Amino acid sequence: MARTKDQADGTAFVIFGISGDLAHRKLIPALYALVAQDFLPGPLYLVGMARRKWNGDSLRDEFHKSLNETLEGQPLDEDAFQSLFHGACYVSADFNDPQGFARLKETLESLPVKNVLYYLSTPPEVYETIIEQLGAHQLDKALPGWSRIVVEKPYGEDLDSALDLDRKIHRVFSEDQIYRIDHYLGKDTVQNILVLRFANAIFEPLWNNHYIDHVQIMVAESIGVGSRINYYDSAGVIRDIFQNHLLQLLCLVAMEVPVAFQSNSVRDEKIKVLDVLRPMRGKTAIQNTFRAQYGAGKVDGERVKGYVDEVGHATTTETYMAARVYLDNWRWAGVPFYLRSGKRLPERLTQISVHFKAAPIFLFDWCNITGEAPNRLVFNIQPDEGINLSFGAKIPGQTDQITPVAMQFDYKTTFGQEPPEAYQRLLLDALNGDPMLFTRSDEVRAAWTFTTRILDAWREQELKKLPEYPAGSWGPKGTEDLIRRDGREWFQSTGEQENCD
Ligand code: BG6
Repeated sequence: MARTKDQADGTAFVIFGISGDLAHRKLIPALYALVAQDFLPGPLYLVGMARRKWNGDSLRDEFHKSLNETLEGQPLDEDAFQSLFHGACYVSADFNDPQGFARLKETLESLPVKNVLYYLSTPPEVYETIIEQLGAHQLDKALPGWSRIVVEKPYGEDLDSALDLDRKIHRVFSEDQIYRIDHYLGKDTVQNILVLRFANAIFEPLWNNHYIDHVQIMVAESIGVGSRINYYDSAGVIRDIFQNHLLQLLCLVAMEVPVAFQSNSVRDEKIKVLDVLRPMRGKTAIQNTFRAQYGAGKVDGERVKGYVDEVGHATTTETYMAARVYLDNWRWAGVPFYLRSGKRLPERLTQISVHFKAAPIFLFDWCNITGEAPNRLVFNIQPDEGINLSFGAKIPGQTDQITPVAMQFDYKTTFGQEPPEAYQRLLLDALNGDPMLFTRSDEVRAAWTFTTRILDAWREQELKKLPEYPAGSWGPKGTEDLIRRDGREWFQSTGEQENCD
């Protein structure tokens, strides 16, 4: 059990909002998996804080039940569970009650720990209150070792609010203590983007505007907004996915090689990508983006309500958006990046497809080629994690016809297992003090600067109603127009090989 490691290096893992959905679905299962694999760097003591009238015992009972549900039939490793919850404490308090934070301090001081990691797993409205209270009670320096804070998204709702939040956090914590989570960066296949690009010499010479025609990045979800309707209706897909996950994926695909595989070197290169995003204001933003909302329809064979019916009133919050963006630097000048994301699309599919230019002269007779070159590199981020490279091959027999075929790397076939959950990697990195997969203050600022201009343009447009797409479809006609006017098509593949009829 993890507890045999040096006790002097113990860490308190404090989860604000431990009774909430994120702690149940992601944080505790990730910590449990880390304990079960003995990956934790030292002894860890869980401390939960929320309003519910729980105590240490009820906390343990609650998560015993909930982990059993999350494991969906796999047996719970009781040793790992007991190890994770050994000495677990719970502070029941309202976040604006100073007494609660005084009790938290006493709790921390009573534990055999040297370090503390605070995790904000609450609605964003209470981030500032918690941070102020942590500062007022000097909880950033309550223990002799390090203290860090992990902040969940959304990190602000536009540029001003993100800067304001940053200022308030910086009053208590220095930048190197702040870990802003974008869970996409914890996905193995997302990390594989840099590995493919920079561990192999064969792709990089082609990775520029001489050989690449365009790039598409798609985060498609079949789920709707579910119980998060209040948050979502004030966010929309632009704040929920575009400002963070989509722009982060763009950074990884487009960045220059870092001088070293170290947190600041990697993040220095990502920020350069955000800095060269061609600003889109007013009419330009309207012409280069498209937004829509799902109506009633069918997903996975089931009839589902439209977004407006779920919210219960008319709203122009977008559940789908697509954008064409450009990076104004030497490598990418003239190469469009098409980004899109939506809820209630036909399937859950996150993909990055890099579309190469056609050979200079067509010598062959292609079948199944609709004007597009056959060379395409596709990162399947999820599900069916892997990478595919498609190219032209001759159809066997007495014909000279050529068809696109694929070289496929499939994570599960090659490694015999699915990649681990993103949160496992991120929590471990935060405990080990490695911020590479977390977003730095300047990245957040640059991503919001770009996004806020689009939000401003949308607001000025004063639309009364958004175009609607039936749930279970790939979006309305306007989204096709955004890419077709450039002579291109949206690409989404589930990995099957294309064959000539
Ligand atoms: C979250 C968004 O950041 O990412 C959710 O808030 C979205 O709306 C989720 O469903 C998607 O994450 P994943 O890992 O399932 O692609």
